[in-house]
Amino acid sequence: MNFNTSSSKQTWSADSYSTHGRFVADLAGAVFEWLAPQAGERILDLGCGDGALTQKLADAGVDVHGVDMSDDLLSAARERGLTVSRGDGHALDFPAEFDAVFSNAALHWMSRPEKVIDGVWRALKPGGRFVAEFGGHGNVAAIVTAMRAVGERRAGDESLAGPWFFPSPEVYADMLGDAGFDVRRIGLYPRPTPLKTGMKEWLKLFRKPFFAQFGAETDAVLDEVEQLLRPSLCDARGNWTADYVRIRVEAIKPQ
Ligand code: BEZ
Repeated sequence: MNFNTSSSKQTWSADSYSTHGRFVADLAGAVFEWLAPQAGERILDLGCGDGALTQKLADAGVDVHGVDMSDDLLSAARERGLTVSRGDGHALDFPAEFDAVFSNAALHWMSRPEKVIDGVWRALKPGGRFVAEFGGHGNVAAIVTAMRAVGERRAGDESLAGPWFFPSPEVYADMLGDAGFDVRRIGLYPRPTPLKTGMKEWLKLFRKPFFAQFGAETDAVLDEVEQLLRPSLCDARGNWTADYVRIRVEAIKPQ
């Protein structure tokens, strides 16, 4: 095992993200289409990670700025020659300078969504658009339930199994509306996602704090969670699929 924390804070390694999380950027086609980036636009990539999609925006002629909290992922983005900075999505302080704010697979990590939405609003020019995709209601429900079950059996802290914000479209549309946005389109999209490197690698990459709490028993806990999930998320050939559900949204800051 290679966990580097036993606290409740998720940490990231650019290497393991590149090996086991590459599919995150690879599957962003639909939200990219909703964004429809135009050359010359100034766009903020919120939760840019290692810059895989930031790079796509830059390649499309966009003047793009990426923001993330992980120094390791930001270093990987800088190695691509991208303009990025360290910043908390709950405290964005860009003054009305972006034509669009874009975000893929990042907003579910931010536990105070109203603060995120306020910062996105501040960052956008009047008429600017907010286009995002992240985990929606029911996302990874089987995976979280399996972790909770094993956590309970072993008297662990179950709350570490699922810290994410996975709203329904109704809830998120209301939050955006309360902040002043016009929601142009929003929906929930089940997207079973093949895990080429298996379920354990997904669990290790994305839910470190839950497993780290078990110390020397970490490997055994991983085995138990995997066994619980096998009947529903692994096929007869040993291929794993994660029960992803995406929420996708486009909202406009009125003129
Ligand atoms: C997601 O992209 O839906 C996701 C990724 C990691 C943990 C939880 C959800």
